[in-house]
Amino acid sequence: MAEHFLVTGADGCIGAWTVRLLLDEGAEVATFDLGANDNRHRLIAGGARLDFRRVVGDIVDRSAVVDAMAGVDRVIHLAALQVPFCRADPSAGAAVNVQGTVNVFEAAVEHGISPVAYASSAAIYGPPELYPEPVLGPDALPEPATLYGAYKVCNEQTAAVFAADHGLASVGLRPFTVYGAGRDQGVTSAPTAAIYSAVRGEPYRVGYRGVTDFQYAPDVARAFIAASRVEFDAPAAPAVNLRGHVTSIEDFVERVRRITGFGDLEVDGEPLPFAEALSPAGLAELLGDTEPTPLDDAITETARIVAAAA
Ligand SMILES: NC(=O)c1ccc[n+]([C@@H]2O[C@H](COP(=O)([O-])OP(=O)(O)OC[C@H]3O[C@@H](n4cnc5c(N)ncnc54)[C@H](O)[C@@H]3O)[C@@H](O)[C@H]2O)c1
Repeated sequence: MAEHFLVTGADGCIGAWTVRLLLDEGAEVATFDLGANDNRHRLIAGGARLDFRRVVGDIVDRSAVVDAMAGVDRVIHLAALQVPFCRADPSAGAAVNVQGTVNVFEAAVEHGISPVAYASSAAIYGPPELYPEPVLGPDALPEPATLYGAYKVCNEQTAAVFAADHGLASVGLRPFTVYGAGRDQGVTSAPTAAIYSAVRGEPYRVGYRGVTDFQYAPDVARAFIAASRVEFDAPAAPAVNLRGHVTSIEDFVERVRRITGFGDLEVDGEPLPFAEALSPAGLAELLGDTEPTPLDDAITETARIVAAAA
């Protein structure tokens, strides 16, 4: 029997990749999102059928979330509002990012689904000056500088209480700079925008420098799928950082120039107020060895997908 997945926030970048990889595996997939936005699914599918069941609903609506989980074996919870939206409307941000996550945990308890794989974020950490090293160690404490980050911390703590009070296991993953086809919004989407622009032959400027951890969207999706299948001996709620390729924005953009043959890409500005990389402590123990796709291969694939859709 095929496993039956529910993916919330499925129309987003990571969600669309998660859905694609699950369909490729032969899983049954139900998606839960606000609308019925096929754009990223179509981009990534490259003509393959979008063979999933769509639930259009608001993650803030508890009963809609409970109903959507009926008959489901595994849950991947990605629905969220990003940093600028939370800043512009803190109350809506808390409703979607915090209450929505509580709804997912409650629904999972009600349906006996465990673990829940859910998206936390590298944004739980604060600006680099709060930490002694540019690469944060395993004991670095959350010091979120944004409401978005504070809400993600709250979700990790909520997950731990649900494990203790309700026996609900969960795995929180904290992506960092996600890149690849479909990454078309958010603070750290500029390196992907450089690939899109190069393919289209349009000049582009990435407005920040510095070193970051580049995590390829399909690799991130694969990690969420693996997280939803972790077997626990006793209810637990670990949350871990992901690991991709740590390099500078300049190096990434130079690779884009070389691979696409388009030179009119610039990088300037100050580094973003983030650490350069985060310790992946605990990741391999939970998900096994996950080798990131080589940067050049990932950039080449992204350029191919974007070109094919043009
Ligand atoms: N992309 C990154 O670099 C990154 C980094 C760290 C963490 N994350 C986290 O990973 C998850 C997925 O990220 P993404 O880049 O795919 O995000 P995205 O913004 O592309 O997608 C989020 C999806 O959630 C949906 N959504 C928003 N409000 C909703 C609501 N009220 N009800 C139902 N659906 C709703 C949106 O419609 C969208 O399709 C998010 O939780 C995000 O916070 C992403």
